[in-house]
Amino acid sequence: MCTSGIKDHKVFVKEVKLLTPSIVSMWCKAPDLNFLPGQFLMLEVPGFSLRRPFVIVDKKDADIRVIFKIRGKGTAFLSKIKEGTELKALGPLGNVFPELSKTDAPLLVGGGIGIVTLLPLAKKLSENCSVTVALGADTKESLILLDEFSSCSKVITCTDDGTQGSQCNVVALIKKHLEQSKTNPVIYACGPTPMLKALSEFSKEKGLLCYVSLEERMGCGVGACVCCVVRTQDGLKRVCKDGPVFDSKELMWEF
Ligand SMILES: Cc1cc2nc3c(=O)[nH]c(=O)nc-3n(C[C@H](O)[C@H](O)[C@H](O)COP(=O)(O)OP(=O)(O)OC[C@H]3O[C@@H](n4cnc5c(N)ncnc54)[C@H](O)[C@@H]3O)c2cc1C
Ligand code: FES
Repeated sequence: MCTSGIKDHKVFVKEVKLLTPSIVSMWCKAPDLNFLPGQFLMLEVPGFSLRRPFVIVDKKDADIRVIFKIRGKGTAFLSKIKEGTELKALGPLGNVFPELSKTDAPLLVGGGIGIVTLLPLAKKLSENCSVTVALGADTKESLILLDEFSSCSKVITCTDDGTQGSQCNVVALIKKHLEQSKTNPVIYACGPTPMLKALSEFSKEKGLLCYVSLEERMGCGVGACVCCVVRTQDGLKRVCKDGPVFDSKELMWEF
């Protein structure tokens, strides 16, 4: 767990841009907020009592980037927020994707908006080894950040409707990929729970190490309200404080 530097930061919205009709990229000025791949922040939404958790996707100079899907009232509000607005952001929160030895071949698997969590990891791992990224979404437009991923990794894609890449889900895509490549990679994944559960079962069957980044409803983001617990082999754990990254073998997948 990387707890160093957790602080309630004042951040300033610099750019809010729709990547698709329902996916928003937001850059905020946040000079003191640094992060490691996998970590997130709790972002204030003016007028709402609870903050919203978002993974930190990038940092350039003094600016950080979050990318979110418009789901409910909080994200709808943020999608229309004015540039220059000051917000509070508590972070960096949560643990990080574990470092791997140079001999491990990483395979990053992202589904839906979970794709965004993997970009900082792909960039970091690609400094030491060649990285393959498998990305899946409902349709071509939802496969965001392809240029950024392609600049640091080999990318394979799939969509539910076949508009880009193979027409299948991302678990089927990596099964086919591994049959052909005959590698035994370490898997890092983020996406919808059914996808992560299927990936966990597949990894167990094949004896592969698999780390998953979970999304659970959060209240505080710092381990105090216990609303984000998941059942693990070692009892209940809080996604915000003990995660969000877990070894998939540790999880009971009952949530
Ligand atoms: C560690 C973590 C990182 C995340 N990173 C991203 C990201 O980078 N991009 C992205 O699009 N989404 C991300 N999510 C999900 C995102 O936080 C929710 O979609 C968002 O909070 C929904 O807020 P809302 O007000 O629009 O929805 P509402 O349903 O109106 O929200 C009501 C309450 O439920 C909580 N909530 C609802 N759905 C979720 C959810 N899936 N996860 C956690 N809390 C939820 C809200 O925070 C809020 O407190 C992340 C979730 C977690 C736990
Ligand atoms: S969100 Fe409060 S304990 Fe995790």
